Amino acid sequence: MFKQLPTSVTIAEVGPRDGFQNVKTFIPTADKIAIIEDLIAAGIKNFELTSFVSPKAIPQLADAADVCRIILAKYGSQINGSALVPNLRGAQSAWEAGIREVACVISVSTSHNRANINRTHDESIADLAKMLESLPEMTVRVDLATAFACPFDGWIHPEAVGALATRIHQLGVRKIVLADTIGVATPDRVYALSTYMRQQFPDTDFALHLHDTRGMGLSNTLAGLMAGITTFETSIAGLGGCPFAPGAAGNTATEDMVNMLRDMNITTGVSREKLIEVVSLVAEKVDAPVNSHLAKAKLYECLN
Ligand code: COA
Ligand code: ZN
Repeated sequence: MFKQLPTSVTIAEVGPRDGFQNVKTFIPTADKIAIIEDLIAAGIKNFELTSFVSPKAIPQLADAADVCRIILAKYGSQINGSALVPNLRGAQSAWEAGIREVACVISVSTSHNRANINRTHDESIADLAKMLESLPEMTVRVDLATAFACPFDGWIHPEAVGALATRIHQLGVRKIVLADTIGVATPDRVYALSTYMRQQFPDTDFALHLHDTRGMGLSNTLAGLMAGITTFETSIAGLGGCPFAPGAAGNTATEDMVNMLRDMNITTGVSREKLIEVVSLVAEKVDAPVNSHLAKAKLYECLN
């Protein structure tokens, strides 16, 4: 069965957005930059650098424009630096800061869409349409939050994800992220939803964003790989969590994902050893618990 697995995988680092947004103590911009630079040095090429949201909702990311300007001025030609946005205004601010790809977040569950961005599905879709129209050169992907389950409404059926994705697809979006926002999905559900969505929308690129709240991040990743998904969003040191989803905890750690793929001979272009050094920097600069297996593990020279 493992014969079907891809030979290379794209890692998209979301720590600077999903990880930092949940940290109460403000991380100075220079420290954010230092962590992103070290991740670039470790080989990460795809980033969610920050989010352009209300600073009242997420005070930690109030320096979004500065982070983008500094990183893109230095590394703009080497990396794909995107940012999360909840509305047209966020996308416009991101464009002005040099961002050329945004992740527009919409929750599949209507209750979480309300709690997170205070919108109905109709309002979110209308805003997405305006975004595509007014920023035609921006690549817009859609992050479908609560694609597996919602902390208020319970399990989400693949048909509900498909119905919302149909509206998004009709507007021309061809990149969609399926997010397990609260980290309760199981491998069978990840396999089922990934397969269903790839069959329904064969011209669309799907990525998975799997929180590790209940320790199933890597098992769910394997299920996604078996369903043909080749892009995974992860977070350095396993940071992460949505402040508007009670009980949500960290993402699958980038270093744990890279370690698993490396030893399965699946290429990521990212150095496991350098990532361990970035985890130390995160532990020093970020006031949040590190959720990393690899950082605690012994690396055996005879297994290199
Ligand atoms: N960037 C910065 N500020 C923004 C903004 C954006 N993209 N969109 C709206 N605002 C500001 C408004 O100017 C207003 O400011 P004020 O209170 O100083 O006048 C305030 O935010 C509220 O604006 P409003 O349009 O009434 O929106 P709202 O109260 O319905 O909130 C969001 C909607 C989307 C702005 C807010 O819920 C939000 O930022 N959510 C982000 C959630 C998030 O990041 N979750 C984690 C990632 S999934
Ligand atoms: Zn997340």
